Amino acid sequence: MPRKIIIDTDPGQDDAVAILMALASPEELEVLGIVAVAGNVGLHHNANNARKVVELACRHDVPVYAGCARPMRRALVTAEHVHGDTGLNGPDLPAPTIPLQSQHGVDYIIDTLMRAEAGTITLCTLGPLTNIAMALIKEPRIAERIAEIVMMGGAYFEVGNITPAAEFNIYVDPEAADVVMRCGAPITILPLDVTHQIQSTPDRLAAILNLGNKSGQAVHAMLTFSETFDLQKYGWAGAPLHDPTVIAYLLQPDLFEGRHCNVTIETASELTMGMTVTDYWHVTGKIRNATYMRHGDADGFYRLLTERLARLP
Ligand code: RIB
Ligand code: CA
Repeated sequence: MPRKIIIDTDPGQDDAVAILMALASPEELEVLGIVAVAGNVGLHHNANNARKVVELACRHDVPVYAGCARPMRRALVTAEHVHGDTGLNGPDLPAPTIPLQSQHGVDYIIDTLMRAEAGTITLCTLGPLTNIAMALIKEPRIAERIAEIVMMGGAYFEVGNITPAAEFNIYVDPEAADVVMRCGAPITILPLDVTHQIQSTPDRLAAILNLGNKSGQAVHAMLTFSETFDLQKYGWAGAPLHDPTVIAYLLQPDLFEGRHCNVTIETASELTMGMTVTDYWHVTGKIRNATYMRHGDADGFYRLLTERLARLP
């Protein structure tokens, strides 16, 4: 029985790869819907990009919704410097033909969770947590109905990427992240501590290009565009690949290792705003509200990613 998931996302090249990986895995994952959120770029582009990716996978059956256009309190911070002005620079994908759903993405999340049997839907978050937090505030009863929240976000041992203290997804909407971390649903975090180990080296990108299919070519174009900023910043052999680790965790959890501990979000100090303060060594008695992953098997991840992309058109 495939696991039912909703993907909340701000595509973003790495988001796009995660969506493709999920759509290539129908035996394990039933993608009920995709909800765009403002983050890497503005909501309009992110929603447009999500539709483009769904069509690239020839999965026109998967509905795409637009959620929130800005964070709960703070002004929107975007990342065109990484993702380009459209948020999906790199491949030349055709304008989408599938419609954007008319229902607001936050209402879609609420309605879907309230209608489904409790504990049967997993939320996969690949961007700022605005939509999830707004859904929890509008309908608190969804918290005990969520099977698991699997999120790409946060950093602790690897420190931040948008500030020295904070990772982008959490930094954009720290208040939303705080609401989510306190909601009581099971949470698994794939932070920069993991994704910085998952580097798209030239050999790994070449293997994706050599698949010879449209999806492989598009992913190669996506990642060779979005890697530029990080390669210059970090000087590593490859740029970190973030969001697909969420899908890889669902498909092959033994690729990752971490521990259940307390994760609290900084929402007061401008210096450390958005930091995921992770009590990995249990020095406080605070509730252990998340499984915080710290290690990932990069070779195993890229074997899985490449094998799944090979299944696509
Ligand atoms: O910090 C990495 C995260 O920020 C990824 O989700 C990437 O897509 C950007 O949203
Ligand atoms: Ca993202």
